[in-house]
Amino acid sequence: MQTIPDILCYLNGEYTSLKHAKVSVLDRGFIFGDGVYEVVPVYGRKLFRFDEHLERLARSLGKVRIENPLDRAGWLERCRKLVAAQAADDQLVYLQVTRGVALRDHVMPADVEPTVFMMATSLKPATPEQRHHGVACVTARDFRWEHADIKSTSLLGNVLARQMSADRGAAETVMFRNGFLTEASSSNVWVVHEGAVLGPPKSEHVLEGIRYELIRELCEEEGIAYNLRPIPEAEVLAADELMLSSATKEVLPVTTLDGDPVGHGALRGKPGPVYARLHEAYQRAKGLQSI
Ligand SMILES: Cc1ncc(COP(=O)(O)O)c(C=O)c1O
Repeated sequence: MQTIPDILCYLNGEYTSLKHAKVSVLDRGFIFGDGVYEVVPVYGRKLFRFDEHLERLARSLGKVRIENPLDRAGWLERCRKLVAAQAADDQLVYLQVTRGVALRDHVMPADVEPTVFMMATSLKPATPEQRHHGVACVTARDFRWEHADIKSTSLLGNVLARQMSADRGAAETVMFRNGFLTEASSSNVWVVHEGAVLGPPKSEHVLEGIRYELIRELCEEEGIAYNLRPIPEAEVLAADELMLSSATKEVLPVTTLDGDPVGHGALRGKPGPVYARLHEAYQRAKGLQSI
């Protein structure tokens, strides 16, 4: 068993050690994966795009019919307290709300209190080597359920997808549904084609990463065209550049796909210029958009 660090976490109104925090075996998060979550990056002890994360949490809760247990001030206060207790300046705040504890029954129980769990951990950023050389990805059919837009703790499909790349020493699994790009197991995927950044349209088949809107803003700042539209698999395989985005990866270049180098000419298999500009712009945004 892994050693659980002795760090502060929040569980149902109490601050306690992660080592000692316990929930009931009848928690519907444990029994059914009946819950939603968020991961908020923290830079210099400040929460990055906090309100966007909170809005997505509210959307996820609404879609699964769990009442939001806290208001903005309540979430913010708890996030800040956990961040203050950590040694690292750059962190990730994980927060999870499950439907609560009830006797096992698929039907949603009435009158249960949601379980709220939160922790802050140090951020493990992409390594300089990953930024310099890019990362490898593999492709797979998107075999997950059709509500990928809900940031649900039911992540078995994503876990199985991620393991396919882990087994092959790759960083992510890029998925296609009916021949069109959806996303990766825990990241969104971006294609650069003739200087423009392309992403799959927002739909039930894709989690709308907080970086969807951020990348649109960064492209606007940089004068890079940004377009959301269905992207056939062939276009991904023929991309000039390929990128992943997530709270931890920020934007990260993909330089091989199923072992084949991404891109063309001198840049084949190397991180490209659009990635470099977005990465720079992202670093500037961190200072400006954290509270
Ligand atoms: C399936 C999936 N898609 C996309 C993302 C990217 O979302 P965000 O940019 O909000 O981290 C994540 C993040 O964990 C994810 O799990």
